[in-house]
Amino acid sequence: MASTLVVSSPKVKYTDEYIEASYDYSNTIVNRLSDGTLEVEPQVTSLKIRTERRVPRLGVMLVGWGGNNGSTLTAALEANRRRLVWRTRTGQQEANWFGSITQSSTVLLGTDQNGQDAYVPMNQIVPMVNPDDIVIDGWDISSMNLGDAMQRAKVLDVALQDQVYKQLCLLKPRPAIYDPDFIAANQSDRADNLIPGTRFEQYQQVRQDIRDFRHATGVEEVIVLWTANTERFSEVAQGLNTTAEELERSLKANRSEISPSTIFAMASIAEGCTYINGSPQNTFVPGLLELADRHGVFIAGDDFKSGQTKLKSVLVDFLVGAGIKPVSIVSYNHLGNNDGFNLSAPQQFRSKEISKSNVVDDMVRSNSLLYADKEHPDHTVVIKYVPYVGDSKRALDEYTSQIMMGGHNTLVIHNTCEDSLLAAPLILDLVVLAELCSRIKVKRNEANAQFVPFRSVLSLLSYLCKAPLVPKNTPVINSLFRQRAAIENLLRACVALPPNSHMALEHR
Ligand SMILES: NC(=O)c1ccc[n+]([C@@H]2O[C@H](COP(=O)([O-])OP(=O)(O)OC[C@H]3O[C@@H](n4cnc5c(N)ncnc54)[C@H](O)[C@@H]3O)[C@@H](O)[C@H]2O)c1
Repeated sequence: MASTLVVSSPKVKYTDEYIEASYDYSNTIVNRLSDGTLEVEPQVTSLKIRTERRVPRLGVMLVGWGGNNGSTLTAALEANRRRLVWRTRTGQQEANWFGSITQSSTVLLGTDQNGQDAYVPMNQIVPMVNPDDIVIDGWDISSMNLGDAMQRAKVLDVALQDQVYKQLCLLKPRPAIYDPDFIAANQSDRADNLIPGTRFEQYQQVRQDIRDFRHATGVEEVIVLWTANTERFSEVAQGLNTTAEELERSLKANRSEISPSTIFAMASIAEGCTYINGSPQNTFVPGLLELADRHGVFIAGDDFKSGQTKLKSVLVDFLVGAGIKPVSIVSYNHLGNNDGFNLSAPQQFRSKEISKSNVVDDMVRSNSLLYADKEHPDHTVVIKYVPYVGDSKRALDEYTSQIMMGGHNTLVIHNTCEDSLLAAPLILDLVVLAELCSRIKVKRNEANAQFVPFRSVLSLLSYLCKAPLVPKNTPVINSLFRQRAAIENLLRACVALPPNSHMALEHR
């Protein structure tokens, strides 16, 4: 879809092929001297940012396609493509992408001729994939077709299900890699659609599947995204998976600690496809990071940031930023979908607990007036499986904070909503933004400099991830405001607009 926003500035050039922006990137270098002085130096780097305008035909392959998220996303793509309308108890409902930042949120552009704020839909700043054009495919250890899988999920209104059922029944997940050692034993009843053979043979089959999909559909780019069950963490050990060579050797030797998700990721990287991990497990072992880097392929994760954690990354940011000191955060969940069933096993729960546990770290460390060096709020996460509530997850959070003079403030939040209706739009955003990132290249504005892509670990997608994966030696940002600002300001930079400072000096 062509961009509908045109920036008129000598700093931006629109050609048929590219949008090329001249951009002064400003950052601030801080030197901490031994006497405690902070020596601060503002820095400006002159860059060229080039965005390819032609959007490729995008294919998305989901691992765990027949699950609640996978079937809900597939139905949502179909419903939005056909602009479906259905009757509910309270009236007519139209298909939409609420909850997707790329499709349903706007970015503040500036001030219009009447002195009012002017906004633009996020997906109109530079060209992005139109969800209607996405071709979907995937794998699942359960052979159920997508129509029946959607019914099994019990997420969408029946009147909507009925309108997409026939179409979705034509879609059947490809056989997948199943290792009962990595997901809960309670999942074994679903596992009737499996790739046989050794790990290396399974890897080769997944590569073949990606090639077949490309060939059969003519898609130009494929993104593979894991939305299958949460696996237990795999061991990380020298000789096993700490380098790319070790990992490749271990795969060929059929070592049992190479998880299905790591095999999917390796196959995806070998086929040049971006791989995104929507679950908490450590798919991205050190050898895999090296492999992605070597192949120049994007990877991103971990674990969709959909409900409770998203709110946490807003609320704690607000509290700490307000000079209030959260001292205890207790998060309790119950849910009754298959994800919850899988998480009722201790090792899989542990993966989720780890992923949920570090989410306030950057905000706590940002304020040494409130927290001493290693001090941290108490932070506990409980997840219980209660079948009756199905996909309608309940999250109860209690935040206790210290306020002035030893006083306390306790916030209690009760959050109820269908988990998959939160996750499906995030999956869409992850693939839309990851695809966009593959069309953006940056170079320093100096002689002999070359345009280079982003690093293989796509940390720009942190906004959508509970435990953001970042390149080595770079800070993890969990604060939702900072994560969103990074996306907005990058999009603005692509068309040579400075970051939104919100100073609004013209009004002061
Ligand atoms: N829904 C949310 O809001 C949310 C948020 C964050 C993370 N997640 C994570 O997303 C994942 C999916 O959630 P869901 O609710 O769709 O779960 P789900 O159990 O409904 O779906 C998972 C699917 O994966 C399949 N599967 C399991 N192992 C597989 C393998 N090795 N290869 C291929 N398919 C496999 C299962 O058969 C199932 O159909 C979970 O790990 C969950 O923790 C979900």
